[in-house]
Amino acid sequence: MFEDRVLSGMRPTGAMHLGHYHGALKNWVSLQNEYPCFFFAADWHALTSHYEDPSVIEATVWDMFIDWLAAGIDPSKATLFIQSRIPQHAELTLLLSFFTPLAWLERVPTYKDQMEKHAEHGRDLLTYGFLGYPLMQGADILIYRANKVPVGEDQVAHVELVREIARRFNHLFGREKGFEEKAEAAVKKLGPKKAKLYRTLRTRFQEQGDAAALEQARALVTDTQNLSLGDQERLYGFLEGGGRMILSEPEALLTSTPKLLGLDGEKMSKSQDNAILLRDTPEHVTKKIRTMQTDPARVRRSDPGEPTKCPVWNLHQVYSDANTQDWVLQGCRTAGIGCLECKQPVIDAINAEIKPIRERATQYEEDPTLVRNIIQDGCEKASDLADETMRDVREAMGLNYN
Ligand code: TRP
Ligand code: SF4
Repeated sequence: MFEDRVLSGMRPTGAMHLGHYHGALKNWVSLQNEYPCFFFAADWHALTSHYEDPSVIEATVWDMFIDWLAAGIDPSKATLFIQSRIPQHAELTLLLSFFTPLAWLERVPTYKDQMEKHAEHGRDLLTYGFLGYPLMQGADILIYRANKVPVGEDQVAHVELVREIARRFNHLFGREKGFEEKAEAAVKKLGPKKAKLYRTLRTRFQEQGDAAALEQARALVTDTQNLSLGDQERLYGFLEGGGRMILSEPEALLTSTPKLLGLDGEKMSKSQDNAILLRDTPEHVTKKIRTMQTDPARVRRSDPGEPTKCPVWNLHQVYSDANTQDWVLQGCRTAGIGCLECKQPVIDAINAEIKPIRERATQYEEDPTLVRNIIQDGCEKASDLADETMRDVREAMGLNYN
């Protein structure tokens, strides 16, 4: 059992836009107040799709951090770092690869989907790295023993896979020599009364699958002072019959906000030219929204329209309260309002939202060393934690010869 820890990453493949903000960053900002958080630039992952022209990675990685900080990520609460600065991720990816069945990777839904999508654009994704994408993601998560991973829906299957990999690792390598004896010895250290309760609860869980008994026994272990970390882990592991839990199983945290689409009603993406960037000026925002496509049925001002056929409606769903939404539905369907009129509340809401973001960004834009130092600190902290896990992993896999 390990402490709660949140981890997530983003690939630095272009400027951050409102899709990133609503789909991830806003959630990260609130999570940092609840848990220790780790957020990183997944630059190796970016190479999956950008190996032929990696220049965009270099060009956007620092800007991405500025956007995160500007969005409200607080470096005194969250640890920020760059994946490739922590080469331990690569070592863990390699070690996991030896016991990850090929079929597990091939059946991840994004594998086939993305491959087909890229093939349509004439890009070849028949690479080893692409197949291994979720495996490296597994290393990112497991190396920090993160149990909570905020991701979008498309990534939930990856986190599921990571759970299975962690479970398989613990099953294969969590049995130290003489585990049973050591675990029995640890039970005795609980003292006679607690030891008896522990055994009863363990039997109840193992024979009847009583989850409450498992919980209670875990709490008993957690509340016992003076146990060594090793004994504590053995006692947790012994409850479930297996060995020690070396890697912890993560769970996905889904963001529940309504999805923010691009100016054309498709997925927001810098490369599709349909994005509002986090640091767009008010003039940019106004122009982008005023020129947005609306329901094509509204040729003249007097033609009624249908909001559900209009990408502006998606913005209202994210930004407007129920009253304004009613005003849109009504006004559009009866030609009571014009499109520019309809767009104004959205323009105002977006400008109000990104104003403080743009303002917070200024200090970092003006002094790049600020960001460099934050990332340097974050990398050091991440590296220390990664080392801890890797020591356990190497030992469990029989790799620490001396
Ligand atoms: N695959 C994620 C994305 O495309 C980025 C990522 C890499 C990630 N490693 C991760 C997210 C680990 C969460 C945890 O957005
Ligand atoms: Fe779209 Fe609003 Fe125009 Fe209707 S009135 S078509 S919802 S912009």
